[in-house]
Amino acid sequence: MAHYQAVGNIPPKRHTQHRRPGRGRAPGELYYEELMGEEGFSSDSSLLYHRNIPSTTVRAAVWELPDQSTTPNHPLVPRHLKLHDLFDAKAVRGTDVVTGRRLVLGNGDVRISYAVAAQPSPWYRNGIGDECVYVERGRARVETVFGSFDVGEGDYVILPRATTHRWIPRPSTKDPLRVYCIEANSHIAPPKRYLSKYGQLLEHAPYCERDLRQPDGPLLAEDIGARPDEQTEVYIKHRGSGPGGVVGTVHTLPFHPLDVVGWDGCLYPYVFNVRDFEPITGRIHQPPPVHQVFEGWNFVICNFVPRKVDYHPLAIPVPYYHSNVDSDEIMFYVDGDYEARKGSGIGKGSISVHPGGHPHGPQPGATEGSLGVERFDELAVMVDTFRPLELGEGGLAVDDGLYAASWSRGLGSTAAPGGAHSEG
Ligand SMILES: [Fe+2]
Repeated sequence: MAHYQAVGNIPPKRHTQHRRPGRGRAPGELYYEELMGEEGFSSDSSLLYHRNIPSTTVRAAVWELPDQSTTPNHPLVPRHLKLHDLFDAKAVRGTDVVTGRRLVLGNGDVRISYAVAAQPSPWYRNGIGDECVYVERGRARVETVFGSFDVGEGDYVILPRATTHRWIPRPSTKDPLRVYCIEANSHIAPPKRYLSKYGQLLEHAPYCERDLRQPDGPLLAEDIGARPDEQTEVYIKHRGSGPGGVVGTVHTLPFHPLDVVGWDGCLYPYVFNVRDFEPITGRIHQPPPVHQVFEGWNFVICNFVPRKVDYHPLAIPVPYYHSNVDSDEIMFYVDGDYEARKGSGIGKGSISVHPGGHPHGPQPGATEGSLGVERFDELAVMVDTFRPLELGEGGLAVDDGLYAASWSRGLGSTAAPGGAHSEG
């Protein structure tokens, strides 16, 4: 984020003495300045002012991560993964957003996992890359060293690498907290083509700065009813020799991590709600890049939102068949009328995996059926990766095993075997 923010108590000049209030004529103790910056000292950064030395730790122990191993998609087939089958009601009661994630798909650039959680998470930071956590259902409070957010359905929560934070699900009579976690090995940001050379979101971008929610803050231990000197464990995901090159460590701090009295800069967590995405439409079918919302190294994130569709008199609103030669295409179906498409198997909570090297598109009959349609009422989040994805244990556990045959089964029938969404 190239949009400067200043929050809380900071000195007028960077890298100068900044002190607590003194007693009498004695100066107060110094705050400890930390620069949190991307790409060494060569990209966006923020300066945080801590009450404690931020490198302090009194103990380090191994955090045994959930299974991070992956299995190649070989022989190559498209797949349908039913995420809502991953957690039963009993499991949800004991699960948190950080330690309970189940790995669905992953490669050397990005890992996609899913959690349904009722418990507060431990304090956590991802030392490998940025996270984009999409809230499918439910509500939560996300507390970070930059401040906090109240988040709910449709929110993308962007958490820069090394941001110490935790997730606290809010009780809901309707839906438990369901999150779709996209963990990068890089940074996640708006597409470069949406930005001016100095980083402002341009007029043609489908969202702008006003649509982004910044953390309120500063947030200190005493603000959440904790003691500033409360010994606290912080779970750290970092690079290592485990499956996928990912391992975990728990550091014990002799104080509470919420000790930042102020910060400023251009690097901080933020939230964007999918309903603030303004769809770009045209007379004829628009290609998937118009749906892009974020990008990371070797992958993009797109969303398909309710919208008017193509209005040329001879338009075909559903897509042409396409062979995504250079990418795997992962569609997560959040909302829409998929239930009505009998025979496809695709419904809310489904993922379709359309791998590179295999053309895909609408089910038989869907092209003809779409003629004259003026609106799609759908909500889906898509991740396209430029390197093949492998299946995590969660993905393998809920693979319906039927999807690859669905196109051939549908030949000559009115059933909707595959590609039940507009973008195929
Ligand atoms: Fe597609």
